[in-house]
Amino acid sequence: MRRCVPAIMFESVRNQWEANAKHYAGLVSDHGTPHHQKILNPCVEELLGDVAGKKMLDAGCGEGYLTRYYAGKQALMTGIDLSEKLIRIAKEKSTESQPIDYRIANICNMESIDTESFDIVLCNLVILNVPCLSEALSEFNRVLVPEGVLVFSIVHPAFNIYGPGEWELGEKDLRTNRRKGFYFKVDHYTDEKPYERYWRTRKGERFPEPITFYHRTISTYIDSLIATGFRIDALKEPIPKEDDRFFDREKRIPFFMVIKAIKSAAVP
Ligand SMILES: C[S@@+](CC[C@H](N)C(=O)[O-])C[C@H]1O[C@@H](n2cnc3c(N)ncnc32)[C@H](O)[C@@H]1O
Repeated sequence: MRRCVPAIMFESVRNQWEANAKHYAGLVSDHGTPHHQKILNPCVEELLGDVAGKKMLDAGCGEGYLTRYYAGKQALMTGIDLSEKLIRIAKEKSTESQPIDYRIANICNMESIDTESFDIVLCNLVILNVPCLSEALSEFNRVLVPEGVLVFSIVHPAFNIYGPGEWELGEKDLRTNRRKGFYFKVDHYTDEKPYERYWRTRKGERFPEPITFYHRTISTYIDSLIATGFRIDALKEPIPKEDDRFFDREKRIPFFMVIKAIKSAAVP
C-alpha cells in the first residue's frame, strides 16, 4: 500500500485519543450519545442488515459499544483502534459470552489483518479523524471479501460543525435546554483542511485535548470510494424518526451522513 502520511501525524492522533479516552468512554457510555441513539445508530444498523454469522471488523472501535452490540447480534467481531487505552477499556467491558478479538491497529495500515478476511467493515465516526482517506479505503477494500460490505458514517460534510459550518443560535429553549437554531452557516465548503475542536462531556466539561477533524467534500468521499474499488450502494442523511423537540435542529438539517459501499469483484 502507498503510504503518504508521515507516522508523526498518527502519533498526534493517537496522543489526542489517549488523552481523551476516559472522557470519550464516559460520553458514549455503552449506548452512544442521544444523537447516536436517535439518529445515527438505527440508520447504520439498517444498512448493515442481518450480521449473524458474518465476520465483521469494527474499524476504530473506541470503547467498543457497537462492537459489543453487534457481537450480541451474533456477528464474529474484531475491533481495532489506534488508542491503547480505548482498547483496554473495550476489553474490560467485554464479557466471556461475547468473544471479541480486540487489537491496537491503524486503519490506514492494518498489517495485522489478513487480506479478504471480513464480510463487513464498519467504520463509525472515525474516517473524519484520519488524515489518510485513500489509504483507509484501500485497506478496507483489501481486508474485505469480494462483494463484502463497507458501512461508514461521518458528520455530514456540508453541515459540519467540526468543519466550515456552524449554527446561528438564539436563546435557550427552556423545555429542551438547547439553544434555538436560526439557520446554518456554511462557507469555504470546498476548502479541504484539518480543524481542531474540543469535545465536551455530558456535564459540559471540556475534554483534556482537542480532536483533529479532516473536512472533505462529499465528492471527495465518493470519488475516493470508486477509485479504491468500491461501488456505492446507499448514501443516507438520517434524521430523527420521533417527533422530539430536542432534535429540532437535526430535523431541519442532517447531522450525519452514512454510506454503504460494496467491494467490486474486479478492482478497476
Ligand atoms: C469518535 S471515536 C468513534 C469510536 C467508535 N467507532 C464509536 O462509534 O464509538 C473515533 C475513534 O477513532 C480512533 N481512531 C482515530 N484514528 C484512527 C486510526 N488511524 N486508526 C484506528 N483508529 C483510529 C480513535 O482512537 C477513536 O477511538
